[in-house]
Amino acid sequence: MRLIIKDDAEAVGLWAAKYVRNRINGFLEDNWNDIRANGKTFNLGLPTGSTPKEMYKNLVLFCKEGSLSFKHVRTFNMDEYVGLPMNHPESYHTFMFENLFKHVDIDPNNVNILDGNAPDLDLECVEYEKKIEAAGGIHLFIGGIGSDGHIAFNEPGSSLVSRTRIKSLAVETIDANKRFFQGSEVAVPKQALTVGVGTVMDAMEVMILITGHHKAFALHKAIEGGVNHMWTVSALQQHQRALFVCDESATGELRVRTANYFKGLMKVHDKLAE
Ligand code: GLP
Repeated sequence: MRLIIKDDAEAVGLWAAKYVRNRINGFLEDNWNDIRANGKTFNLGLPTGSTPKEMYKNLVLFCKEGSLSFKHVRTFNMDEYVGLPMNHPESYHTFMFENLFKHVDIDPNNVNILDGNAPDLDLECVEYEKKIEAAGGIHLFIGGIGSDGHIAFNEPGSSLVSRTRIKSLAVETIDANKRFFQGSEVAVPKQALTVGVGTVMDAMEVMILITGHHKAFALHKAIEGGVNHMWTVSALQQHQRALFVCDESATGELRVRTANYFKGLMKVHDKLAE
């Protein structure tokens, strides 16, 4: 596991965007023949939330300046609320369109987001897993976390080998997300479709973005506690290529020794994004 500690949320977003650009451009170089002949794509797992917004802003800038293209990228979003109309301002469909897709050159056929209004929600989840498999798996899954350490909508107690399914949201998550619904708990959907912890773990690489004091305890649990289903992000300790990118505020609950250890590796790690 790698931990990248940047000064603030802005620096986290920039670093993460540069890392994504490197991964996509590297993939294009290495697989150009397969891309042209068989339509092979770089498969990217994507999150919503306030944390990744800065990364999306930079990805859009890179596309505008011409150093990045989404032409050969296929995306799979982590989750979506159940029962919220797709065009609702707080649906994850709207979030993705507004923050990324409408600004970049992605083929709309390559965008995959769970449909929280599908007539058969269980089938929707099964089909989603099949789509990921048919695409050849996810090359890089990007995520944020809740302050209770949930990843996607895998709330505390979720199975660490779970697959895409319907989940009821924890009281803490409903409380955290009411800020998007005029502060009304009643207005927050109580269920969501979400990829499972196992779905994320199957990705070839996972990058988690964590910013702010309110996520400090979750970061501590994620990397210094044991693997535990009450902090589902901690499952990533058993992933071969897991990368956490956080700001200084989020390191508040880490041991000084842990933070210093990773800061000592910064020169090596910074090369990954350059
Ligand atoms: C929701 C999403 C998660 C996201 C979390 C944190 O629960 N399902 O994927 O990581 O919010 O969001 P924020 O970045 O706004 O703190």
